Amino acid sequence: REDMARGADNTLRWATLVALAALGTAVTAAANPGIVARITQKGLDYACQQGVATLRKELEKITIPTFSGSFKIKYFGKGRYNFYSMVVREFKLPTSQIRLSPDQGLDLSIKDASVKISGKWKAQKNFIKASGNFDLSVEGISVLASLRLGYDPTSGHSTVSCSSCRSHINRVHVRTSGSSLKWLIQLFHRNIESALRKAMESKICKMLTNTVSSKLQPYFQTLPVTAKVDRMVGINYSLVAPPKASAENLDGLLKGEFFSLDHPSPPPFAPPALALPADHDRMVYLCISEYFFNTAGLVYQKAGVLNLTINNSMIPKKSLFSLTTNFFGTLIPKVSTMFPNMEMQFLIWASFPPHLTVHPSGLDLTFVLETQAFAVLPNASLAPLFLIEMNSSISVDIGVRSKRLIGELRLNKLLLELKHSNIGPFSVELLQAVMNFAVPTLVLPKINEKLQRGFPLPLPAYIQLSNLVLQPHQDFLLFGADVRYS
Ligand SMILES: *[C@@H]1O[C@H](CO)[C@@H](O)[C@H](O)[C@H]1NC(C)=O
Ligand SMILES: *[C@@H]1O[C@H](CO)[C@@H](O)[C@H](O)[C@H]1NC(C)=O
Ligand SMILES: *[C@@H]1O[C@H](CO)[C@@H](O)[C@H](O)[C@H]1NC(C)=O
Ligand SMILES: *[C@@H]1O[C@H](CO)[C@@H](O)[C@H](O)[C@H]1NC(C)=O
Ligand SMILES: *[C@@H]1O[C@H](CO)[C@@H](O)[C@H](O)[C@H]1NC(C)=O
Repeated sequence: REDMARGADNTLRWATLVALAALGTAVTAAANPGIVARITQKGLDYACQQGVATLRKELEKITIPTFSGSFKIKYFGKGRYNFYSMVVREFKLPTSQIRLSPDQGLDLSIKDASVKISGKWKAQKNFIKASGNFDLSVEGISVLASLRLGYDPTSGHSTVSCSSCRSHINRVHVRTSGSSLKWLIQLFHRNIESALRKAMESKICKMLTNTVSSKLQPYFQTLPVTAKVDRMVGINYSLVAPPKASAENLDGLLKGEFFSLDHPSPPPFAPPALALPADHDRMVYLCISEYFFNTAGLVYQKAGVLNLTINNSMIPKKSLFSLTTNFFGTLIPKVSTMFPNMEMQFLIWASFPPHLTVHPSGLDLTFVLETQAFAVLPNASLAPLFLIEMNSSISVDIGVRSKRLIGELRLNKLLLELKHSNIGPFSVELLQAVMNFAVPTLVLPKINEKLQRGFPLPLPAYIQLSNLVLQPHQDFLLFGADVRYS
C-alpha cells in the first residue's frame, strides 16, 4: 500500500517535472532565433522541380502485381484471364507545384500525369487458350499531398512527413494484341481497367509517402545542426521551433550561436527580434542576426584567441621600428634609461568581447584592445613598463565564399589612452605612430586569417549558390542566393 502511495506521489512529481520541462521548451521556442533560414516560393518552385524528378524515378519503379479474374459469357461459359509481367515504361509528371499552406506546411499537387505500362495477358476457357501483349495507358493522374514539417527538439533537426495523400486517375485504357481472342479481353476491359486503376491509385500515394521518408527526410538531415569551426569553437544551428509556413515563405528559426566546444555556456545577452524584409527574388535567404557575430566575438575572446604576445622577432626586419628599449627610448627616454639594451614584449588582448552592431547603413565594430608593454630582462623575466588602452575604429567587410561566411577587418583609427605607467607619466601620443603600424600589421592579420577561413553557413548538402546578395538591415545581415542542386 505504502509503495503504491509513494508510487502515486512519484508519478505526480514526475508529471510536474514534465510540465516544467515542457514549459521550458515553450520559453526557448519563443526566444528569438540567431538566424532565420528562409525559402521563398521561387525556392520552392525549384525544390519542386528537383523533388518531382526524384519522385518520377521512384514512380517508374512501381511494380504492379499480376492480377487475374474470371469472365462469363452467354453460350460461351466461364473462363479466366491473367495480366502479368507488367512494366512501367514511362511516367510523365508535366505539372506539379509546391504551395505554402500557412501554419500547416506544404502542399504538393500533381496534375495531368500519365503513365504507360506494358505487359502480357493470357485467357483460358477449358482447353481454349489465348495470350498476347497489352499496352496500358493511365491518364489524368492527379495527386494532392500535404507535407507536415516539424522538428525534433532533442536533435534540433527538422522533420518532414507526408500527412495526407490522395490520388485520382481519370482514365485507364487497355489495348491488347497478339491473338484472335483479344476481342474477348476487350469485352472485359471495364473490369480490368477499374481493377488496374485501384491498384495504381493506392500505389502512387504509398510511393510518394515512401519517397518523402526515404529521400526527403534524410536530405533534411544533411542540414547541419552543429558545425565545427576549429579545435575550440562550434556553431549551433539547431532549429529552435518547428519550421514556419506563411503565405510567402517557409522559415526555419535557427539558434545561430557560437559556442565553446570545451566549456559551452549560454551568452549573457539574447538575440534581438528581427523584422524580416519581404524580399523574395532569391530562392533562399539567411537573416543573420548581429547576435550570431557577437556570440563569435564572445567565444573567441573567452578562448584567448584575441590574446597575442608580440616580441621583437615578429617585427619585420625592414621596418623602422623595433621592439627594443633602445628604440622606445627615442620616444620615451625613461624606457632606455631604466632598461638599457633590452628587448621588449607586448601582450595584447581584448578586454571585453568585440561587439558588432548592424544597421541599414552598415556595420559598426567596437573593439577595445589593451596593450601591456614589458622589458625583457637578461634573466628573461618581464618588467612591466606601461599599459595602454586602444579604442579602435575598424571597418568590417563580410562576404560569402563557397558556402562560408568570411570577413575582413580594416583599421580606420586608433585612440590611445595611457591606463597605467611603471616609468612615470608620458604623452601617449608619442606611441600613436608605433601602434598605427603594429595593429594593422601584427594584430589584425592574426584575426583576419581566421575570418578568411570563414564559418560554415547552415545550408544543405549538394547545392551550389549563385546570384548572391548581402545587405545590412537593422540588427541583421540579409544574405540571399539562388541555389542549384548538383
Ligand atoms: C543548441 O541549441 C539547442 C536549442 O537551444 C540546444 O537544445 C542544444 O543543446 C544546443 N547544442 C549545443 C551543442 O550547444
Ligand atoms: C588574455 O589576457 C588577459 C590579460 O593578460 C587575461 O586576463 C586573460 O585571462 C587572457 N585570456 C586567456 C583565455 O588566456
Ligand atoms: C618570440 O615569439 C616567437 C613566437 O611566439 C617565439 O617562437 C620566440 O621564442 C619569441 N622570442 C623571444 C625572444 O621571446
Ligand atoms: C630577474 O632579474 C631581476 C632583476 O635583476 C630580479 O628582480 C628577478 O628576481 C629575476 N628573476 C628571476 C626569475 O630570477
Ligand atoms: C571609444 O571611442 C568612442 C569614440 O571616441 C567612444 O564613444 C567610446 O566610448 C570609446 N569606448 C571605449 C570603451 O573607450
